Amino acid sequence: MSKILLAGGAGYIGSHTAVELLEAGYEVVIADNYSNSCPESIKRVEKITGKQVQAYEVDVKDKDKLSVIFKENKIDAVIHFAGLKAVGESVEKPVLYYRNNIDTTLTLLECMNEYGVKNIIFSSSATVYGEENPVPYTEEMKRGTCTNPYGWTKVMMEQILEDAAKADKDMSVVLLRYFNPIGAHESGIMGEDPQGIPNNLMPYVAQVAVGRRDHLTIFGKDYPTPDGTCRRDYIHVVDLAKGHVKAIDFVFKNKGVEVFNLGTGTPYSVTEIVTTFQKENDIEIKVEYGDRRAGDLPESYANADKALNVLGWKTEKNLADMCRDLWRWQSNNPYGYNQK
Ligand code: NAD
Ligand code: UD1
Repeated sequence: MSKILLAGGAGYIGSHTAVELLEAGYEVVIADNYSNSCPESIKRVEKITGKQVQAYEVDVKDKDKLSVIFKENKIDAVIHFAGLKAVGESVEKPVLYYRNNIDTTLTLLECMNEYGVKNIIFSSSATVYGEENPVPYTEEMKRGTCTNPYGWTKVMMEQILEDAAKADKDMSVVLLRYFNPIGAHESGIMGEDPQGIPNNLMPYVAQVAVGRRDHLTIFGKDYPTPDGTCRRDYIHVVDLAKGHVKAIDFVFKNKGVEVFNLGTGTPYSVTEIVTTFQKENDIEIKVEYGDRRAGDLPESYANADKALNVLGWKTEKNLADMCRDLWRWQSNNPYGYNQK
């Protein structure tokens, strides 16, 4: 069975993907420096699947250490999740973001080249559509102008991977543009565990619900949307993880570069999702309205047809599932993996 290296595989999306790959019969190797995760998430993967995961604590930028993984394992494909992802922090520390996100990509590509590994799937983002493109986004649209260094690293890494595939005709690259992953594994033992104050909406909502934060501030209610709050394409993290299994099947059969949106195609507003969370979990969230957040677009959602037509993938879980699974995880693990 094929062996897949998950760079950054201890993180939120990587750990959920590890479960789905193992359940589909793939072998999984994880490389992570735990800069935004911890080894406990890998133990939870093993608990859910009953299978062992080989994990290496390495900085993916460190070529000598990364090479050891390629030397010790016959890697058939790489999924590259390893990156820093906090938009606000990327504005304050652009060099850290460019260094980490781009160097991890270059080092992976160098090792792949040296060890004859031709297949890579990259965690890109809807953010690459930038400000210019109209919703719903389709894959053939040109990449747009990003509002922050995090977004630019995704644009640049897509370009780097395209150039690598242009130079090596045996390479197969899949760029997955994620929309807004939320929710948690339905077991309630694996989920998102943000360090510090959450930047994203749903982890924040969950921390208010569990009493770690006083209230949610909704950023802006004067957007040109039906209820004045921004609309996003929220996707259950397990659906997203299953998209990676389909992409792995595809990457082995393909050559060149293929881009896929991973979203549901249906946008929900901030107000709608907060209301759904409250109703599904029978819990009150204190809400206040604040100013718009710099860089936020009124709407972002996918046209998800290509993933359905080419990969045979579509989402199966709805907003209520996302809210219930998130709360199961957060209420079972109020402080994430490192219980206080
Ligand atoms: P995450 O922070 O939970 O996971 C990223 C993992 O990479 C972490 O475990 C971190 O420790 C590791 N990492 C970072 N730099 C590393 C390095 N130099 N060497 C080794 N490991 C390193 O984030 P996530 O939400 O699971 O996101 C995974 C990928 O998907 C990221 O590239 C992110 O930019 C992208 N993405 C995420 C979202 C989202 O909303 N979560 C949306 C679009 C794209
Ligand atoms: C953000 C990033 C995007 C990244 C994505 C996933 C920005 C500008 N964009 O997208 O690059 O790919 O996360 O990591 O940061 N909201 C509130 N109150 C909060 C938090 C969020 O009202 O406390 C609102 C936001 O204004 C937005 C929506 O909730 O309208 C979703 O926010 P978030 O979860 O941060 O995702 P994005 O803004 O889509």
